[in-house]
Amino acid sequence: MSFGENLETLIPAEEIQARVAQIAKDIRRDVGDAPILLLCVLKGAFPFLADLAKNMDGDVLFDFIQVSSWAGGRESTGSVRIKKDHDFDIKGMHVVLVEDIVDSGLTLTYLRELLATRQPASLRVAALLSKPDAREHNVPVEYIGFEIENRFVVGYGLDDGERFRNLPYVAAVIPTSEPV
Ligand code: PRP
Repeated sequence: MSFGENLETLIPAEEIQARVAQIAKDIRRDVGDAPILLLCVLKGAFPFLADLAKNMDGDVLFDFIQVSSWAGGRESTGSVRIKKDHDFDIKGMHVVLVEDIVDSGLTLTYLRELLATRQPASLRVAALLSKPDAREHNVPVEYIGFEIENRFVVGYGLDDGERFRNLPYVAAVIPTSEPV
């Protein structure tokens, strides 16, 4: 028994897996035969990165970057800071930035501008989720898994105070004061 939330499944695990497999194929088709650097935005994008990579043909490299704008809460702080930079020199590489969710677009706007200065051969963004109604910064996203309503969601990497990242599905959080 726990107190605090009920979860309403929004996207079942099977739907996520099918969509991610398709995105992996689309990325490979668009990049061609060159190596692809999947640049995972920690922490939330790591399940998406893993499933994308498993469904992608050819040479695939991983790297990780961590930024923070939400600081573990349910409201954006309005500013982005780098907590961990990537390790590869991305100059001349085909980079796909892998995000779990694009909400206001602040994080992605910051990262696109930053990474462009590092001169990759190409830069694309794959986001599992997008909330168009929450967008405050107009930023391109080449591959979107699912567009969702402007609700607080968890699962498949997304957290509520670090909980629920392990769920294989995406769910909306329904607050409750009753035991669940
Ligand atoms: C979340 C998410 C995106 C960003 C999206 O990261 O992973 O990076 O917020 O919000 P935005 O479009 O309004 O900028 P968070 O800071 O919660 O880190 P986490 O992935 O470690 O949970």
